[in-house]
Amino acid sequence: MRGRILVLLLFPAVFSSVDSFEPFTTTVVVTAGALLGRKIYNYFQETCNDDWLHFNATGLQVDLERKLFGQHIASRVVVKALTGFMNNKNPKKPLVLSLHGWTGTGKNFVSQLMANNIFRRGMESGFVHQFVATAHFPHASQINTYKAQLQEWVRGNVSICGRSMFIFDEMDKMHPGLIDSIKPFLDYYDNLDGVSYRQATFVFLSNAGGESITRVVLDFWKAGRDREEIQLKDLERAMSLEVFNNKNSGFWHTSLIDKNLIDFFVPFLPLEYRHVRMCALAEMEAQKMNLDEDMANEVAKDMIYSPKEERVFSVKGCKTIASKLEYYR
Ligand SMILES: *[C@@H]1O[C@H](CO)[C@@H](O)[C@H](O)[C@H]1NC(C)=O
Ligand SMILES: *[C@@H]1O[C@H](CO)[C@@H](O)[C@H](O)[C@H]1NC(C)=O
Repeated sequence: MRGRILVLLLFPAVFSSVDSFEPFTTTVVVTAGALLGRKIYNYFQETCNDDWLHFNATGLQVDLERKLFGQHIASRVVVKALTGFMNNKNPKKPLVLSLHGWTGTGKNFVSQLMANNIFRRGMESGFVHQFVATAHFPHASQINTYKAQLQEWVRGNVSICGRSMFIFDEMDKMHPGLIDSIKPFLDYYDNLDGVSYRQATFVFLSNAGGESITRVVLDFWKAGRDREEIQLKDLERAMSLEVFNNKNSGFWHTSLIDKNLIDFFVPFLPLEYRHVRMCALAEMEAQKMNLDEDMANEVAKDMIYSPKEERVFSVKGCKTIASKLEYYR
């Protein structure tokens, strides 16, 4: 298709340049050629426009329904938050999401699904930036270098693409000074030194709050209530208490919450046996294996469950499922 258009457009150019000089045709051809050249360039080179960056709300919803298990609140909050933000041509501040919960409950997975439904290249996109505290900023002694670097990266990347997405993993292990250094970007400023951060998305992941979330879910379980009855407000209070009181995670939160920089708290519930089973089946499908219910049961049975007495919640959630399947097949 593209090839044919190219030939049709270049053909008159050959004749017009040989036969006679005809300014109008030449201009049209040259302009068309330039536009086409840019189109072809865009085709290979990721650019910050609709071709490469287009939020698909339906896609996100479908992905969450099909691939994420046991997280009715997180699914709802994330869809609502992103849809409102991405449909807003002129947001007043960047979108800041804080994802909380035990390991293996789907925090990383959800940030991938978000990226996949905004950027054509998903996590591979040059506009998606992931930072893992212990990997990218391991040494407390180098905090000043990290600060300068991080600020420059965020500034540089947002200048290139306003819709850039930044994911910070292991937020509870991040040096408080480093959090402080990105705080200005999260705020309601029109612009900072000529760069506007209002269209960017920041996603923070942490295990903080996981214990409180688990307590609430366990209470529902003990009362024989459906976990789908749990609402965001049931968790918010418990979560903020733990997060505030926990020395390791409290600091960053306090400073971000105090200034209302976080737009949405997204709680991830601990996963039960039936969810782990579903993860196993989904993983088989992803690996193009035959769906084997017995194997899914085995995998789920082999996980460790807590608390000691009730043994309801998978300690590692759905983490390590992929490698377990390797072992069973
Ligand atoms: C959005 O996602 C849906 C569901 O995955 C898909 O069918 C549709 O083609 C997508 N739309 C665009 C514009 O990519
Ligand atoms: C964008 O961020 C990456 C880190 O994800 C960094 O390596 C790169 O230098 C940044 N680009 C600019 C222009 O600052």
